Amino acid sequence: MKYIVRNAKEGDLLTIININLQTLPEHYPYEFWLEHLRKWGKAFFVAEVDNLVVGYVMARVELGFGHLSKRLTRMGHIISIAVLPNYRRKGIGKALMLACIDSLKNHYKASEVYLEVRVSNEPAIKLYEALGFKKVKILESYYLDGENAYLMAKKL
Ligand code: COA
Repeated sequence: MKYIVRNAKEGDLLTIININLQTLPEHYPYEFWLEHLRKWGKAFFVAEVDNLVVGYVMARVELGFGHLSKRLTRMGHIISIAVLPNYRRKGIGKALMLACIDSLKNHYKASEVYLEVRVSNEPAIKLYEALGFKKVKILESYYLDGENAYLMAKKL
């Protein structure tokens, strides 16, 4: 299947939000997506198949105590990633992650990237491990339904 990965634009947001509603229990108001697009748009990507947006990744940049380096660090924080069910296992999630990580490192000069993932979300954990992320710690009851999260991080 042929797909392209490109930066998201404002006109994509309703489609992106719709994908998020279909695929993940974590949802956000429109303004939250728009803020990320305006502030960190170079790390916000969509994947398209036949001119149809089928996946996205959204991230932000934070300055804080590093999860790996243990000093003040510019960190990329991946907030949300999803691919529509019919388009999975074709490399799209990985391509979105690689584009986002490249931008966080080379455009935003982040030296670490991290994310949270449900401990039960095997597909996502496998994808992140394949990209070199390591489980750093467990965040107890991180999700509203009480499930724990792994915090996973990778040095850039
Ligand atoms: N089981 C095991 N490994 C999996 C997997 C699965 N269901 N899905 C992905 N992987 C791993 C494999 O190593 C895979 O490589 P391979 O296909 O050559 O074996 C690698 O990740 C890359 O997979 P890819 O095809 O790029 O991923 P995808 O396009 O299917 O997207 C998600 C992966 C996680 C984005 C997708 O499953 C999804 O949208 N899930 C729902 C939303 C979600 O959970 N987001 C993450 C929240 S933290």
